[in-house]
Amino acid sequence: MAETITIIDDRTGKKVTVPVTDGVFASTALRELDPNLRMYDPAFLSTAACQSSITYLDGEKGILRYRGYPIEQLAEKSTFLEVAYLLLNGELPDNDQFAKWDYDVTHHTMIHENMRKRFVDGFHYDAHPMGMFISAIAALGTFYDDAQDVFDTDNLNKQILRLVAKVPTIAAMTYRFSSGLPFVLPNNSMSYATNFLNMMYRIGDDYEVDPVLARAMDVLFILHADHEQNCGTTAMRVVASANSDPYSATAAAASALYGPLHGGANEAVVRMLTEIGDVKNIPAFIESVKRGEGKLMGFGHRVYKNFDPRATIIKKSAYEVFEITGTNPLLDVALKLEEVALNDEYFASRRLYPNVDFYSGLIYQALGFPVSMFTVLFAIPRTVGWLAHMSELLRDDEQKISRPRQWYTGVDERNYTDIKKR
Ligand code: ACO
Repeated sequence: MAETITIIDDRTGKKVTVPVTDGVFASTALRELDPNLRMYDPAFLSTAACQSSITYLDGEKGILRYRGYPIEQLAEKSTFLEVAYLLLNGELPDNDQFAKWDYDVTHHTMIHENMRKRFVDGFHYDAHPMGMFISAIAALGTFYDDAQDVFDTDNLNKQILRLVAKVPTIAAMTYRFSSGLPFVLPNNSMSYATNFLNMMYRIGDDYEVDPVLARAMDVLFILHADHEQNCGTTAMRVVASANSDPYSATAAAASALYGPLHGGANEAVVRMLTEIGDVKNIPAFIESVKRGEGKLMGFGHRVYKNFDPRATIIKKSAYEVFEITGTNPLLDVALKLEEVALNDEYFASRRLYPNVDFYSGLIYQALGFPVSMFTVLFAIPRTVGWLAHMSELLRDDEQKISRPRQWYTGVDERNYTDIKKR
């Protein structure tokens, strides 16, 4: 039997019965009761703003699936480029499709020389890589006069290909600029992750990317590729709903990701662990968090309330990386902090568990990335997720330009008084 919900407006006695599908009902039904009725939902805690078939997430059970495939299977068996194809196209590629996609991405990794010589060189020497990344993504769009035509699917896909292929190049460029190192050109014989690490670290001819580290990078990319309607993806959807070009919309999404409550958390975790410094300081730190003097960064999630499946995979990946690079001295602090917090009533009662960012920073550090690059590393794979959502949104007939309503709580009309009389 179809499930329904009946809403009664006690002010008028009117009622409306609406179908509930997968726990969702259309709030437009409320307009039948009263066209001026609005739902107050700050931060969208109970609002589904779209239908999406990209990523499934069950926060209670700790489930994350891309297009139906469990994240654990993809992290173990797939590659980032294959996952990117899956997210963008809905199905895993066959051999021919993958060969073409791999070739196309690999052969679009170059960026215009002016991006490096004139644009990036204009930044202050200590500019934050994420600020450079965001601006460079927006600037990239100005090199393509076809960027604006988002309703031509082939054209949109061309822009998506460019963005997916070029974000590692831009990311590496921000690092090389910050370090005063010469820019390393993309290498078409390398895989996506290997090429990225090569552009980051090559100095001279004797650098070789360790395949275990390249695989760890690739797994991290897979884990970060999409996460349904998070803050950055919502920013992407809102901007894309105005039919802005994909470069501007991606820059907007990346700006949201930059925030310390979102993709900036991995950076904040390492800063926090460094500040704690030693396991003996953990009890005092935990007490300060409980007194409200700060947050335990890398803990808690809006949706995951039991565990974050990505955190489990990352923890395993961390040990594989440490076998090659040697352990990160902050690992002991992190492990003890996790143990203490998980056994503390404050965190248990609020259902706060380690999220994806609790351990990712430690791996990034072991791979040689400066802390300021961490969010950029998140933005590279998430670009795929953002663009998958942009494509989905533009094909969705139910979507319009995003424009929430507000609950006005300011003063009523009043008359202007001259400044001398105030
Ligand atoms: N440390 C200490 N207390 C916390 C933490 C934390 N990390 N997270 C939540 N709480 C507390 C809140 O203070 C609140 O307590 P109260 O009920 O006594 O007021 C309670 O837990 C509920 O927290 P909310 O803020 O309502 O949870 P929300 O869903 O809004 O926030 C968020 C989720 C932003 C991720 C939050 O847990 C947080 O700030 N965590 C730290 C930052 C972080 O790790 N972000 C990365 C998220 S994953 C990602 O974006 C990739």
